[in-house]
Order: sequence, then structure tokens, then C-alpha cells
Amino acid sequence: MTAPTLEIHLSEEQMTEALRTDARVGLTASPKWLPPKWFYDARGSELFEQITELPEYYPTRTERELLRASAAEIAAVSAPQILVELGSGSSDKTRLLLDAMTAHGTLEQYVPQDVSPAALGSAIEALSRDYPELQVHGVVSDFTDTLHNLPTGGRRMIAFLGGTLGNLVPAERAEFLASIAAVLETGEQLLVGVGLVIDPAILVPAYDDAAGVTAEFNRNVLHVLNNRLSANFEPDRFSHVAYWDADNEWIEMRLEATADMTVHVGDLGLTVAFGTGEQLRTEISAKFTLDGIGRELAAAGFDVEQTWTDADERFALICAGRR
Ligand code: SAH
Ligand code: TRP
Repeated sequence: MTAPTLEIHLSEEQMTEALRTDARVGLTASPKWLPPKWFYDARGSELFEQITELPEYYPTRTERELLRASAAEIAAVSAPQILVELGSGSSDKTRLLLDAMTAHGTLEQYVPQDVSPAALGSAIEALSRDYPELQVHGVVSDFTDTLHNLPTGGRRMIAFLGGTLGNLVPAERAEFLASIAAVLETGEQLLVGVGLVIDPAILVPAYDDAAGVTAEFNRNVLHVLNNRLSANFEPDRFSHVAYWDADNEWIEMRLEATADMTVHVGDLGLTVAFGTGEQLRTEISAKFTLDGIGRELAAAGFDVEQTWTDADERFALICAGRR
């Protein structure tokens, strides 16, 4: 077995510096907001794994079944030598692709990329144990910055699963998809998993579960601010809100102040006031129609080659080729 390697493009100090900027901008804006990547410290990544097992959170289960049904076909048609995955987290579902691609005999290298060193570190250890023939090379970076060191020397596929594309707003999405297209050669592929627009009665509970795990995950961003920037948020005094914005077709995650509060962010020398009921936006999770995502991919330079959806049309897995 070859030992896995880990490449760090985002040091702890660079992350803290980036969080300083985001917190200064977001906490002084009106309404207040924070970018979603700050959920994912070690505890946040662990809470996300718990979310994927909740009865209400259908996306992970559904996407896993789509991968199970399609992996052999994807491996046969695309036959990549290098699989790069953005926002890979635990890489758990990805094992279905790794199994099919190693069985097909083409895959040589897997490059998971994530902003969470904790999630990535444990993923690459487990993967190189279980796939001894595969070169596993992890990259800690922010996928909205640059797609660092995209490996060359073989046919590549970039996977972007879990509906994470929907965590970007439309303008960010267009830029992001175009930047992926820019690093691929004609004929190489992007495999993207997205949540579809469905009945809010099913959608909203997926982001507001009965056990309160998603609420704890949402509040984790306040713990991250406390730990990294010496802030003094009292996370328990914020309640979790999941709001379906029907016009934009996205779920919006917010944290609502349950009392008037004054919070100090030590590292920034910044004092922030919250009024009772004031909401801080922490994430959007956009849902798509097949036509809509097809148009976005086409505009970025991709041709949709194949689409898999579940019987209830809750989630789609799309394989698109660089034009
Ligand atoms: N792909 C996994 C995890 C999805 S959760 C799955 O389908 O289950 C979103 C993942 O994206 C997390 O692991 C998080 O750490 C990562 N992430 C979020 N924003 C990111 C960013 N800007 N750059 C890199 N990774 C990011
Ligand atoms: N990519 C996931 C999604 O949009 C992330 C996620 C799931 C999430 N549940 C959440 C983010 C709750 C914030 C809060 O489905």
C-alpha cells in the first residue's frame, strides 16, 4: 500500500485570516450573514455526518442509491484514470465510484479536496487502507478560490456530490462551473449531484430535523467564531430557522437571536448588537429543475450526457462532458 499524501493550500493561520475578513464583512452587514464553509471544523464535519443518517435527510440516501445504480455505467463510459472530488467530506458514497472504477481497471488516483482538514485526514487514511492499489492524495483548499494542482497525466473526472453546488448563489455557481470547465480538456467529465425542487413538506424537515442535529450544526458556526476569533457568542441563545424561499427555490438557513444581545469578537475588536428576533443568514441550499441545471451546465461549457433520478425525483446525478 502507498501511504496517502495530504497537500495543504490553506493553513490554519490562512483560515483564521479568511474568517476574520468574512466575519468583519458579514457581521457588520444588514442583514447579517456568514459564508457556509465555516460550519466545517472537526465538530461541524462530525455533525454533518450525523445529518446524513437522519430519517428526514433524504439527499445522502437518495444520492447513494443513484450512485449504486449508475457507478458501473459511469466507470465503463468515462473510464477515468484520475478522480478528483470537490467538497469530499468523508468520501463515504464515493466508495461506490471507487469500487466500480477500480473494478473497471482504469482508475489510478483519487484526489479528494475539502476545506476541512479533519474530515479529509480521516477519509484518506481509511481510503488508502481499503484501496491499497489506489494513489490517494488529499488537498485542503477552498474550491471557490482556485482548483489547485489539478493532476495531469491521465483522463480525469471531477465529482461534486451531496448537493453542495446548491450552497453557492447563482452568480457564484456560474463562475464556479466555468472555472471547472476551464481546467478540463474536451471530453473530460463533471459528475454533479443536486437536490431537485420538491414539496416543501418533505424539503423543510430535511433541514430542520426533529432530533435537532441540524440546529446544532447550524449553531456550530458560532462555536467556530468563538474558538478562532475569540468571540463570545452564546450559541444556545440562537434558534435554528430553515426557510423555504419559493421565489429563489432555495432553503435558507438562519440563526435567530432569542433575546437582545451584544457580542464581542475579540480578534477583530468588534462589538455586534443583535435585536430579539434578528436573523443571521448562514447558508442557502438551492434546489434545481433538470432544465435549470442543464442550462447552467450548458452556459459553463458542458454537455449533459446522462442523468439519473430517483423514482420520486428528489435528487439528480448528472454526468456532463466538457465541450
Ligand atoms: N460530499 C460529501 C459532503 C457534503 S457536505 C457528501 O456528499 O456527503 C459539504 C462538504 O463540502 C463538507 O465536507 C465541507 O467541508 C466542504 N466544503 C464546504 N465549503 C467548501 C469550500 N468552500 N471549499 C472546499 N470544501 C468546502
Ligand atoms: N450540502 C448540504 C445540503 O445543502 C449541506 C447541508 C445539509 C447543510 N444540511 C445542512 C448546511 C444544514 C447547513 C445546514 O444539503
